[in-house]
Amino acid sequence: MNNRPLELMIPGPVPVSPEVLDAMGQPVRQHYGPEWLPFYRQFIARLQQLFGTTGSVYPIPASGSGGLEAMLGTLIGTDGTAGIIVNGFFGNRLLNIARAHTPHVEVLQAPYERPADPADVRAWLRQRRVSVLAVVHSDTSTGVLNPVEEIAAAARAEGAALVVDAVSSLGGTPVLTDAWGLAAVSTASQKCLESPPGLAPVAVTKLGWEIIDSQRAPSRGWYLNLRSWRQYEQEWANHPYPVTLPSNNIVALDRALDRIFAEGLEARFERHRRAAAQLREGLERLGFKPFADRRWASPTITVAYPPPGIDAGALIETLRVQHRIAVAGGLEHLAGRVIRIGHLGNQATPEPIRRVLGALEASLRQGVPSSP
Ligand SMILES: Cc1ncc(COP(=O)(O)O)c(C=O)c1O
Repeated sequence: MNNRPLELMIPGPVPVSPEVLDAMGQPVRQHYGPEWLPFYRQFIARLQQLFGTTGSVYPIPASGSGGLEAMLGTLIGTDGTAGIIVNGFFGNRLLNIARAHTPHVEVLQAPYERPADPADVRAWLRQRRVSVLAVVHSDTSTGVLNPVEEIAAAARAEGAALVVDAVSSLGGTPVLTDAWGLAAVSTASQKCLESPPGLAPVAVTKLGWEIIDSQRAPSRGWYLNLRSWRQYEQEWANHPYPVTLPSNNIVALDRALDRIFAEGLEARFERHRRAAAQLREGLERLGFKPFADRRWASPTITVAYPPPGIDAGALIETLRVQHRIAVAGGLEHLAGRVIRIGHLGNQATPEPIRRVLGALEASLRQGVPSSP
């Protein structure tokens, strides 16, 4: 058994830089009071910049799904009518969350192979009374990028407001929360933000608050309720959040933000695009067939069918055991049929992509054993 640590090329969590790990390992800080608050305020201002919003941002201690539940649950309330676009596994997750909050959920089921079409979304909305529409930006199960800006415009034209799962997109591809007229956006620390898992930053715009404040039946939750976060922000000057914040995770994410802004967002988006192209080209050369057409392929995740006759599960195991590289398998009907490779954050550089391609090539050359 090879005990070398696994190199994570899964679509999150991603490898974290030594500086960020070092920040995570500093002594635990008091998460309120005068020594912490100036730092915290600056941290929130930088998250606002990252989201492209002057609205609220809350670093909710949770995995990505916790942020999605806070966002969707609060925006829909207990009686709102939600529309969910489903063209991947994570669209289905939004659907499950929405159904846990309101009995009134409309589903726009769309093919997994393609992005949702804004014209179809608009025509679909015209037949329904949807107040909050939700979509996944980069569905990590398919590697398809949905056109959020255009879908937001379509929603607006039909009187609906768009909320976005940007868990695997924010920080790797543009997400302009205010400029695109979004109501809310949710992400997670462990993907393009190249930090350890544990924080789910959620942004809510003026439009989002208008929807929340005009609800007849607000969300019943407390912890994952953005109203609680706003109430403490307004009323508890010395501790402007309702719970103990995981200060180490925040210090680590703040250090990652140093790196992200030092690189520059545009340079970063370009780096992700280049990594995606490098991987795609390499995979095609080896006989893999990418799931998403290049016109709408996500710059942060690639999903691909192995060459004919090659078992996806056995290939993943060979990479893990012989090359100590972790890539992921398919979800839902794609389970056992595809591999999923992350190029998020620190993964999106030429060397890791070259390593994963080299390991795939060597595995194919040696002959992949059949699944156990
Ligand atoms: C697009 C997307 N949404 C939601 C999630 C769920 O995040 P978590 O597993 O951190 O709850 C993921 C995780 O992979 C994701 O990629």
